[in-house]
Amino acid sequence: MVPTLKFAVFLLALFAFVDASSAEKDFVQCEKIVREWARSALEEEIEGDGHTLQDLLFFLHVPRTGGRTYFHCLVKKVYGAALECPRSYDKLRFDPRKPKCRLVATHDDYSIMSMLPREKTSVMTVLRHPVDRVFSAYEFSVEVASRFLVHPNLTSATELTKRIRAKHKGVSTLDIWPWKYLVPWMREDLFARRDARKMKGLSYVNSNDSYNVEEMAMPLHQFINEPVVLDTVHNGATFQVAGLTNNSYLAEAHDVRHCVQKFTILGEHVLQVAQILVNLAEEVGQYAICWSH
Ligand SMILES: *[C@@H]1O[C@H](CO)[C@@H](O)[C@H](O)[C@H]1NC(C)=O
Ligand SMILES: *[C@@H]1O[C@H](CO)[C@@H](O)[C@H](O)[C@H]1NC(C)=O
Ligand SMILES: *[C@@H]1O[C@H](CO)[C@@H](O)[C@H](O)[C@H]1NC(C)=O
Repeated sequence: MVPTLKFAVFLLALFAFVDASSAEKDFVQCEKIVREWARSALEEEIEGDGHTLQDLLFFLHVPRTGGRTYFHCLVKKVYGAALECPRSYDKLRFDPRKPKCRLVATHDDYSIMSMLPREKTSVMTVLRHPVDRVFSAYEFSVEVASRFLVHPNLTSATELTKRIRAKHKGVSTLDIWPWKYLVPWMREDLFARRDARKMKGLSYVNSNDSYNVEEMAMPLHQFINEPVVLDTVHNGATFQVAGLTNNSYLAEAHDVRHCVQKFTILGEHVLQVAQILVNLAEEVGQYAICWSH
């Protein structure tokens, strides 16, 4: 017994050693990947020519910043429907082939610039305090998903999706990143909680305690730790401005993001790039920033 135990301890120690050194190697490799990306991301930035609006305006919509209101009530009014690129808003993968349009708005991240004439494009975005943005993403996920609860079974959820699509001319929140991941996932969770309440003989539409609704909806502390949320909500605005979201057009973006998610200290480099892009933009008039409250 005793020698076996010793052996096991020895093996464990060995594994721990191997593990530590491979993690170190991972870190070194990740640091290289992130640094290289940061260098090239800033190299690509071209000199602007003052505060002039370029031929094409790309409205980079960071979810839950009031961007939709800002876009529809102001930007779109200024440009007029004729200049808007077709299906540019709320249609995930923007099609840049249509010539002559001057206004693009999407939830796509900054990497879409790789498909646009960079020197002829201005970028505009709205930023918001990250904590408020995450709270709002939680609230919105629950709100949109709970619309499906009026239909008592999952089959009708599919029907409802179809109906919403028809109402919004083929595009809806359910097609847009990141909601296309967050809403169906939250919907499943709401249905599961509803079914659990039904099984217990509880009402599934009312709760006696408004401050304890865990039986009805996922609490925030659970939401923020879920993989889908880690993938699409955490550091969302920074990743969007840097072109590194889980929805990025650039193949290398995913390695960079995974490295940063694994070794959070490397996030400094991403934040730095995002801040430089934003500051540079304010100087050269490429990136107009509004703070939403
Ligand atoms: C629930 O689903 C079943 C099976 O698809 C369907 O027959 C039924 O009409 C649905 N109920 C409601 C209220 O939509
Ligand atoms: C909740 O309210 C209902 C109706 O007022 C009541 O019958 C029930 O006992 C309450 N349940 C709890 C857990 O307080
Ligand atoms: C983005 O996130 C969603 C939700 O977690 C996931 O299903 C999808 O595969 C991710 N895409 C990439 C490119 O990582």
